[in-house]
Amino acid sequence: MLAPILATAAYAAAIRALARRDPELTWDWTTINVDRLAFAQAFGPGFLWGVATSAHQVEGGCDNNQWSRWEAVRGPGGRPRIHGGERSGLACDQWDRYPEDIALMQALGVNAYRFSVEWSKIEPRLGEFDGEAIAHYHRLIDALRDAGIEPVITLHHFTHPIWFDELGAFEEAANIDRLVRFSERVFAEYGQKVRLWCTINEPAVVAMVGHFLGLFPPGGRDPRRAITVLGNLLQAHGRIYRALKAMPGGDAASIGLVKNIFHIDPYRRWHLGDAGAAALFDEVFNRMALRALRTGRFEAKIPGLGHLARALPEVQESLDFIGLNYYSHLRVKTQASRREPFTWAYRPTDVATDMPYALYPEGLYRALRQVGGLGVPVYVTENGIADARDDRRDTFIRRYLYAVARAMGDGVDVRGYFYWSLLDNFEWAEGWSMKFGLYAMDPEDRVRRLRPGAEVYREIIARSRGGG
Ligand code: FCB
Repeated sequence: MLAPILATAAYAAAIRALARRDPELTWDWTTINVDRLAFAQAFGPGFLWGVATSAHQVEGGCDNNQWSRWEAVRGPGGRPRIHGGERSGLACDQWDRYPEDIALMQALGVNAYRFSVEWSKIEPRLGEFDGEAIAHYHRLIDALRDAGIEPVITLHHFTHPIWFDELGAFEEAANIDRLVRFSERVFAEYGQKVRLWCTINEPAVVAMVGHFLGLFPPGGRDPRRAITVLGNLLQAHGRIYRALKAMPGGDAASIGLVKNIFHIDPYRRWHLGDAGAAALFDEVFNRMALRALRTGRFEAKIPGLGHLARALPEVQESLDFIGLNYYSHLRVKTQASRREPFTWAYRPTDVATDMPYALYPEGLYRALRQVGGLGVPVYVTENGIADARDDRRDTFIRRYLYAVARAMGDGVDVRGYFYWSLLDNFEWAEGWSMKFGLYAMDPEDRVRRLRPGAEVYREIIARSRGGG
């Protein structure tokens, strides 16, 4: 008689403990009037309004990195790795068209541009630096500054040179030195002209999508290796931070990591399987890295892998700011199937986007509160919607910016917001199919056109400056 009661109580306690972690939050949008927000008051004059891109996705001619190789080879069953077998190729040709793109930024009124420098162009062979590539980024940075747009550099945004890949990339801790040296070289070049530096973009995505889900290069499916790579990427961040801080100009620079938060919520909060799976995914995608940044300890208990622990002292206190990339959340639903033990589930009320990312501005608020807990200023380094029909972009921008304002009102020190992306670009495994751009860009003729749904971004920026 007692046993079932105890079992029920234990189940309920386990569920309560899991649910307390960070419950799914929902706001009643019928009662929220986003347009009544006082933008000038909410965001203030020093706020950075930006757009973000990365080199491989926009520049063109990135044919010496591991992604270009990945685009060219076929996966299991002869299937192309990229949607439709597409290639990044000339991409948006921003390498040559950057003056035009700067004019597009000016038309929006943004005052910051986050972009990445392409390591494989700057250091095409180990230890050999390319003067023309270095000069190119000087020209880009100077042109941005002349236009009143603050350049924000990302040192590693998913791509690295083929030679680095052949050395084993981030699977080998010994390779971290190479990225540190590259970063020092870049900082020596541009450190006097650039205040904000992002070390590594989304370490958990590089590690998990590349080494566990197998969808990004190198296509691995080994959870233990994925965790090793994540630890190495965090260590690389900490070491870059310390190396740049020690250089002339290091004190004046603001250096941070870009962390993607992708909440994984249980589809059924009362279900131990869903709640347990959600907690586990949350741990590896989100929390392990955040904890390492706070404590200098990288550790987790993962079923099947045991207790993984590694001291990363260089990662503690390695942030002048934290960059947050936020898109959406997923709800995990477990099921009795060995082949597919869980699925991602949606609710009928979800507003879909073209990626499997439902509209979820509440999640941006949650994530801002979460990274705000690190105690350093926050920049939303990426947030945007894939919306080819352009019928949800306007709502997306209004609501997600409302969430930013609300987090700021509740005390999170948010200093800037970068919309992903300035223009449609090569969306990694999704190729050209995902239209994130404020400007539509047809990869055939590369003509850029402002999307009507993007106008609101320009308006909000103007209102934030004009007292609206
Ligand atoms: C992020 C990446 C960025 C872009 C967006 C849609 O994970 O950092 O390059 O692809 O997703």
